[in-house]
Amino acid sequence: MGETVEIVEVGPRDGLQNEARLIPTDEKIALVDLLSCAGFRRIEVASFVSPKWVPQMADGAEVLAGIRRTDGVRYMALTPNMRGLEGARAAKADEIAVFASASEGFSKANLNASVIESLGRFDGVVRAATADGLTVRGYISCVTDCPFDGPVPPSQVAVVASALEAMGCNEISLGDTIGRGTPEAVDAMLEAVLNVAEMDMLAGHFHDTSGRALDNVDVALARGVRIFDSAVGGLGGCPYAPGAAGNLATEALDAHLTTLGYVTGLNRAVVAKAGRMAREMRHGGG
Ligand code: HMG
Ligand code: MG
Repeated sequence: MGETVEIVEVGPRDGLQNEARLIPTDEKIALVDLLSCAGFRRIEVASFVSPKWVPQMADGAEVLAGIRRTDGVRYMALTPNMRGLEGARAAKADEIAVFASASEGFSKANLNASVIESLGRFDGVVRAATADGLTVRGYISCVTDCPFDGPVPPSQVAVVASALEAMGCNEISLGDTIGRGTPEAVDAMLEAVLNVAEMDMLAGHFHDTSGRALDNVDVALARGVRIFDSAVGGLGGCPYAPGAAGNLATEALDAHLTTLGYVTGLNRAVVAKAGRMAREMRHGGG
């Protein structure tokens, strides 16, 4: 039996947040319910962010209330501030995520705060959440390149990783938000982060703008990373990151990892069906 790699499905959040068409809540629920049968251990389903900033995610509470929760699956939600944490708690999210940036330009565009201001805000959120027994993931966006500031020094990513770990995040997801990272840049970034964080708390989050996402997965695998985020149908992008194309598609990631001999535990037919559903949602097909 090969080594296990966890795929965290982020399509219902990181995918759908970027869709121009306002997707009806029942379509989101149907997608999550199908994904719940695919073998994922974690699915990111909602964001408790400002609906003025991301209208597409305004129905997070309804999505979490409407899904059929499946044993063994944890449902995650993004929380930018205390208000978001309260929303996620009320909706009974199993795990929350805060999301910082390694670059100032994206931090300002995505959170209306400098990196240091955002970390100060997250500190309160993470401490309150962990005191409540909630598991907290910390995202770092723009780990190699920023749409506003250009290339991002690995040392900046390490500083943010160290801060997220110190406040109590139990996992750090390293996001190549605009999909411009080369394998060399990803490797240098990982080397810097590994000076401050344990390998088993790291996840790789690659977008496939330049067709290098699987190469970047390989670099991260070689470094020892065993958790990766992806979205069925390759959905996604970020509304505040111009040029960010879709997430790495779960179908492609699963096939790649399986070919390499890793065990993902996913049911490929169900994942493929969810990918078709996601693509139809994108085109308004219901
Ligand atoms: P702000 O405008 O500076 O702050 O936004 P504010 O406190 O003035 O809030 C603005 C309005 O939103 C107010 O309403 C608040 O009450 C309300 P008003 O008084 O004007 O009527 N508000 C909220 N409503 C509901 N839930 C909340 C909440 N907070 C405030 N939690 C803020 C600051 C952080 C709120 C805003 O910038 C924000 O929501 N940003 C989130 C943007 C976002 O979701 N981006 C996409 C996710 S990140 C991503 O995709 C990258 C990632 O995937 C990794 C990768 O790919 O690399 C994670
Ligand atoms: Mg993303």
